[in-house]
Amino acid sequence: MATAPELFADVQEVIIRPMRAADVPEVVAIERASYQFPWSEGIFRDCLRVGYVCRVVTAGRQVMGYGVMSVGAGEAHILNLCIAEEFRCRGGGKKILICLLERAHAAGMAEAFLEVRPSNVMAIRLYQSLGFERVGTRRGYYQAVTGREDAAVLKLSLPAPAPPLS
Ligand SMILES: CC(C)(COP(=O)(O)OP(=O)(O)OC[C@H]1O[C@@H](n2cnc3c(N)ncnc32)[C@H](O)[C@@H]1OP(=O)(O)O)[C@@H](O)C(=O)NCCC(=O)NCCS
Repeated sequence: MATAPELFADVQEVIIRPMRAADVPEVVAIERASYQFPWSEGIFRDCLRVGYVCRVVTAGRQVMGYGVMSVGAGEAHILNLCIAEEFRCRGGGKKILICLLERAHAAGMAEAFLEVRPSNVMAIRLYQSLGFERVGTRRGYYQAVTGREDAAVLKLSLPAPAPPLS
């Protein structure tokens, strides 16, 4: 699996850590600024409550972005991945995605899936750079100003877990 690149050379103490309830207002602010049809605060709180893998990337106290993933039945689903606009293109999206995929692998998941708007070239480039491949289309998956928009479904096969030491 790829390793995280050098990140945020101009920013100190960049870390990825579990999202906490106290992060939700900052996360929601990034979400609202980033998407035309954002998740509500309640959705993020539900994700924390049900135990989804929720991570934030931070510099000092500032939340720069976040990722949310569900795991179960051998599959991981990347449900949300977002970096605040002012911190994009510095490797943060890739770093948090790798962190989620490592977590999925450690949990024994065989595959990771996600949906993305076919028009989201930047995100698709990121996913492809980590080996995701398009495996299908979900018709009318996304809300759009003009009605509904299809989603591309992308899949990554995760390496088999290491055998236990004998
Ligand atoms: C998609 C998103 C999470 C990527 O995060 P990011 O931190 O900006 O991306 P990164 O800097 O980690 O770059 C990841 C890849 O994107 C591509 N990329 C990065 N900067 C780029 C640029 N300026 N131009 C074109 N491609 C670029 C590259 O393929 C890069 O991989 P590489 O560094 O190995 O070449 C971010 O753009 C975002 O939050 N967008 C809005 C929300 C969104 O669309 N989320 C995805 C929903 S499916």
